[in-house]
Amino acid sequence: MKVGVLTGGGDCPGLNAVIRSVVRKGVQEYSFDFVGVRDGWLGLLKNDVVPLDIAGVRGILPRGGTILGSSRTNPFKHENGLQRVRETLAAHEVDALVVIGGEDTLGAATELSRQGINLVGVPKTIDNDVTGTDYTFGFDTAVGIATEAIDRLHTTAESHMRALVVEVMGRHSGWIALHAGIAGGANVILIPERPFDIEQVCEQVTSRFQINYAPIVVVAEGAVPKEGQMILKDQSLDEFGHVRLSGIGEWLAQEISARTQKDARTTVLGHIQRGGTPSAFDRWLATRFGLHAIEAVEDGEFGCMVALESTRIVRVPLAAATAKNKVVEPSLYDEFEVFFG
Ligand code: F6P
Repeated sequence: MKVGVLTGGGDCPGLNAVIRSVVRKGVQEYSFDFVGVRDGWLGLLKNDVVPLDIAGVRGILPRGGTILGSSRTNPFKHENGLQRVRETLAAHEVDALVVIGGEDTLGAATELSRQGINLVGVPKTIDNDVTGTDYTFGFDTAVGIATEAIDRLHTTAESHMRALVVEVMGRHSGWIALHAGIAGGANVILIPERPFDIEQVCEQVTSRFQINYAPIVVVAEGAVPKEGQMILKDQSLDEFGHVRLSGIGEWLAQEISARTQKDARTTVLGHIQRGGTPSAFDRWLATRFGLHAIEAVEDGEFGCMVALESTRIVRVPLAAATAKNKVVEPSLYDEFEVFFG
């Protein structure tokens, strides 16, 4: 059996750990051959496929990014996309794919699987918004980075008695904002699932200043004010129809300053949250996902995604996992009410 491995969408710490464990188990236990597909679906459109073996995955476990490269290519947005994918797979005699991606890459995988391509999905994203799995790898690393940033911002905020806004990633879901905000002791946490009232945010900021405390506001990039439109820097769309986010943090600091007469600044964490060494938990989860994904290939169970359910790795149908994003439940957010303001 020859297996192709690809990583698509935004990169995320732990991708290399999956690639390593897929190849190690595939070669050592099942005697599979492997190829790496470069830059996600783009490699299958462009016939950009490279050899992949145990020597090629040595030493990559703790490395961030992906040795295979990644892109936000949607094969169905390219002329004869499906046919080109099939041709590349046939040219390299690839029998099955392990597709490591988030909502978009796995969404395309769902459709390719319907079209008869043998594949198994592995959920990745720092955003943790893939349905069907308790956690995606990459999320824990991102939360750790954002929490450390918030810890550091507390001391500078207090020294200058100013409000500091921290913008974190999270397009459709506020998982990073909520986890890092709670871990870092933020006073206001704004998430896409719950449009916010700017007046209430300013009241919460003011009440913190009144007790001689410098407020920290954590905002997910996809958070929106109740009364208005999402704040965007740039209106360009990617091949999956997503706009490039960022801008809400800057807008918030301006509004807070104007409405409370207090100094406010913004830190946008951006890609710092995605780069570099994965946490121990992400290496552990990514390694387990890889082992179970290649086992699913060996079993011939295609069209599924490996997922974390409590402490077990299970297989869920790809179609169900990609039907909608996993968002923060209102009741979970409400648990932390006592810390806000
Ligand atoms: O992959 C998820 C993510 O990190 C989102 O949180 C963010 O909106 C997006 O990627 C940024 O993508 P890009 O790196 O393509 O600008």
